[in-house]
Amino acid sequence: MSISPHILVFDSGVGALSIIGEIRRAIPTSIITYASDNGFFPYGTKTEEELIARVDLVLRALVAESHPDIIVVACNTASTVALPSVRANFSIPIVGVVPAIKPAAQLSSSKVIALLGTPGTVRRPYTHQLIRDFAADCEVVMVGSRELVELAERKLRGKTVDPLAVREALTPLLQSPAYERVDTVVLACTHFPLIRPELAQALERPLHWVDSGEAIARRVIHLLQQSPLPERQRPNEHRSVFTLDCAEVEALKPQLADHLPGPINFARLADRQAEI
Ligand code: DGL
Repeated sequence: MSISPHILVFDSGVGALSIIGEIRRAIPTSIITYASDNGFFPYGTKTEEELIARVDLVLRALVAESHPDIIVVACNTASTVALPSVRANFSIPIVGVVPAIKPAAQLSSSKVIALLGTPGTVRRPYTHQLIRDFAADCEVVMVGSRELVELAERKLRGKTVDPLAVREALTPLLQSPAYERVDTVVLACTHFPLIRPELAQALERPLHWVDSGEAIARRVIHLLQQSPLPERQRPNEHRSVFTLDCAEVEALKPQLADHLPGPINFARLADRQAEI
């Protein structure tokens, strides 16, 4: 791609970094604004109504101040509930990240799949519909874990990930009668590719691991090729934006310097709804 598209990649936390890695590999010229709604983290335990309102609030503020060419909602928890309203509210192309159930079902020989997501994602009617549409011939063991999200956040802040804590979080899978027949694991939370080595160690046997990262990068390219980018001023450096200024952002700086070097800012959300 000759021009440098400006891509806004949004998540509740560090999960977006797994998607940003894939986008930058696929589109090396892209300029990324990484937006973390750390002020409302974690998304996985929030109600659908709360998430729809919050995602709208945050994206409005971000789009108004950064004018991206495309938005990637790099969060399964938000995408599986808020994509229709996001698409209705913004006129620029939107890419959502949803559980990669279809490729997992195609890859599985045993037709027994594990799906690791947040508590919200495994509850969603959207996820259940994906299973009915694309994995009707599979048994799907779903694990909704808030702890694994926290462990990924900790890892990116340079803390060690306790293997026992990973196994503990995976107990519902390890104790499932179907576990021995599982041959494919769907990482249905963008945080989880960041702890894939730790997950693989905890599950102790060769498995297919499927996440949405590469497919999202391909989708971004496809949408950007649909119509020429408008003539306008674009940023010439990557940037990270957080909705809350706190010590955790400081602790993330070394990883950000590796993953996405550039300035760090804090978003100004509309006062009217700031307490959401
Ligand atoms: N990274 C998000 C996802 O893909 C969720 C993390 C959270 O619970 O905030 O679902």
